[in-house]
Amino acid sequence: MHRQLRPLLSNIFRCNTNNSVRYESTERVVTLIPGDGIGPEISVAVQQIFSAAKVPIIWEKVDVSPVKYPDGKFGIPQKAIDSFLKNRIGLKGPLATPIGKGHRSLNLEIRKVFSLYANVRPCRSIEGHETLYDNVDVVTIRENTEGEYSGIEHEITPGVVQSIKLITEKASRRVAEYAFEYAKSNGRKTVTSVHKANIMRMSDGLFLSCCRQVAEQHPDIKYKEMYLDTVCLNMVQDPSRFDVLVMPNLYGDILSDLCAGLIGGLGVTPSGNIGKEGAVFESVHGTAPDIAGQDKANPTALLLSAIMMLRYLNLNPYADSIENACYSVIKAKKVLTGDLGGTATCSQFTQEIISKLA
Ligand code: IPM
Ligand code: MG
Repeated sequence: MHRQLRPLLSNIFRCNTNNSVRYESTERVVTLIPGDGIGPEISVAVQQIFSAAKVPIIWEKVDVSPVKYPDGKFGIPQKAIDSFLKNRIGLKGPLATPIGKGHRSLNLEIRKVFSLYANVRPCRSIEGHETLYDNVDVVTIRENTEGEYSGIEHEITPGVVQSIKLITEKASRRVAEYAFEYAKSNGRKTVTSVHKANIMRMSDGLFLSCCRQVAEQHPDIKYKEMYLDTVCLNMVQDPSRFDVLVMPNLYGDILSDLCAGLIGGLGVTPSGNIGKEGAVFESVHGTAPDIAGQDKANPTALLLSAIMMLRYLNLNPYADSIENACYSVIKAKKVLTGDLGGTATCSQFTQEIISKLA
């Protein structure tokens, strides 16, 4: 599906967790953003599991704490930008988002700066982790760079503010193309475009017409259009009706949480931000400051996101082995973190997954 990333050239040094440096040429370098709160703990868990599975990856850890640029605006430090531009692949833990003040969300900044235009969230029921349904298998594909997230807001007069939902043909078309390509390469049958073009005739209308045009080029994939509210209603009534869904930014933010809720929440839902030149995989749960630093966090969402990353890098055998180990630990219900209904620490859960690696 994706063009193979550039093979990495020779002068790469490996810094593993115990700080030893060793030289390898076949490994891929991945930019690692551990994030805030529980981010560092769950990142270490993923690193330990990857290392036990002998995944040929070198982690390049970067700090994305915002820095002030000469124009007075805060943004991602240049070092982190350079790391991603070099490696073109990243794994990211949760970052705290200030509400209504300070710098804008770094989560969004990363998507925007690297033009990671398709946000992919597969939501599949996990055996042993009981929820309302056991047959959920949907994938939300969200336009990730514009729409209601364009950040164009202003006060017209005191008490009256305006927010612009920007929709372009270019961004709509590329995310639609991604959705159909994804459906094709993942053996999916249907792509549903989710919209409110009955109300937002021009903006959602443009999104829809781009999806329609792309659908015509993919006659092997069934194409449907549905209103967002109807999708929400039907999704909670019978999620098995849905397959791949593509939609503008804000709808995708909301609907992906709804779908995650159907399989047990953001703690077990992976996510990938895909662009033409690279991708960043991330856990989309919060930073959980109340349990940060206490070895209580659940690393599953970041681990499943890292597994998506391995498939993106065509390292499928490693992805399969780690995924099986993770699912078998959840299914066995013996060693689980608190949020999954157990009493184990993050370290114990991590070790249990390691012990199940084939
Ligand atoms: C997500 C999150 C982000 C978003 C926040 C953290 C800015 O909810 O990735 O879904 O709104 O996109
Ligand atoms: Mg969200």
